[in-house]
Amino acid sequence: MKILLMSGSFHSESKSIAILNAVKTYAPEHEYIFPWLDKFPFYCEDLSAKKPNEILELINTVKTCDGIIICTPEYNHSVPAVLKNAIDWLSRPAFNSVLKAKPITIITQASSPVGGARAQAHIKLILDSTLSTIYPCHEMMISGIDNILDNSRKIVDRKIESKLKMHLLGFFEFIG
Ligand SMILES: Cc1cc2nc3c(=O)[nH]c(=O)nc-3n(C[C@H](O)[C@H](O)[C@H](O)COP(=O)(O)O)c2cc1C
Repeated sequence: MKILLMSGSFHSESKSIAILNAVKTYAPEHEYIFPWLDKFPFYCEDLSAKKPNEILELINTVKTCDGIIICTPEYNHSVPAVLKNAIDWLSRPAFNSVLKAKPITIITQASSPVGGARAQAHIKLILDSTLSTIYPCHEMMISGIDNILDNSRKIVDRKIESKLKMHLLGFFEFIG
């Protein structure tokens, strides 16, 4: 399957990207596309009329992919702007965009014990408006992320590793 990976952070030590990299190693049989959403301009109606190439490319990727996996931190009790911006770009035309009926699953992570629960809820609310199909599951939230990754940002917590693998298995079955 062709899977789009969307991160909510893009700094050099991004834990969200580390989790998405782990996804690739846990299910290497799939094709993954990872766009650098931080390079996108802010959504603007004027730009939308003449979309930049990277936006057209992302829209086409969503059109042709089988599913989307989002991994994001929580920023100020919500979704990082970079992720919201990408969803805004993908959400037009309203209720009939490439996101309509697209299977999506959400992974949130945080150093706090809350595990990005508020970001998780907010993304669901945002995606609701796109008519995408959110994988119905036990929410995949990772708390205490700093103890789950080692210095090279590999997952070393076996419980989380197996939870993540189960989550992915369920999501791929759901898409299939
Ligand atoms: C601007 C900003 C806002 C944040 N707000 C929250 C928050 O509301 N709740 C939370 O649990 N963590 C918050 N954090 C901490 C990050 O979510 C947490 O450290 C996360 O693991 C970073 O993930 P990343 O490496 O993918 O950027 C915030 C961090 C930043 C930079």
